[in-house]
Amino acid sequence: MVEVQLRINGTVHTCEIPPQVSLLDVLREHLGLTGTKKGCDQGACGACTVLVDGERINSCLTLAVQYAGREVTTIEGVAGEQGPHPLQAAFIRNDGFQCGYCTSGQICSAIGMLAEHASGAPSLVTEHLAATGAELTDAEIRERMSGNLCRCGAYNGIVDAIREVAT
Ligand code: FES
Repeated sequence: MVEVQLRINGTVHTCEIPPQVSLLDVLREHLGLTGTKKGCDQGACGACTVLVDGERINSCLTLAVQYAGREVTTIEGVAGEQGPHPLQAAFIRNDGFQCGYCTSGQICSAIGMLAEHASGAPSLVTEHLAATGAELTDAEIRERMSGNLCRCGAYNGIVDAIREVAT
């Protein structure tokens, strides 16, 4: 066991954990933050997406000990004092879910994705379509969100929600 201090949603947690445990399992099993979901547990579905220092990661693929001293944000931490995060509200308005299992990962991923786009990080779509400019097209949203699967197929609502917040 190792002792590690993790800063999750603004609160520092001191955890005694095996060094090989994933960040996802620490969030869910040790800290009770079950908003982050376990789907495939092998980096294929995106259900476990959280933000580390604002960047999206698959928490199932990473060891919790890697994140000592970093700022981890889960779905429990994205809302502000004024209410839901704009993407949470947009997902509700646009029916961006059906069963909801993938939704926390979708929203965390979309938050990170919009920051990536704002910083000018290219996607496959913008690399192939250089004339796209700064506009976040539906094709680019779909490409940039392609790491987050929705088994219910609520993709149209997800894209609508993200486009609404992006514009
Ligand atoms: Fe991590 Fe599927 S549970 S990518």
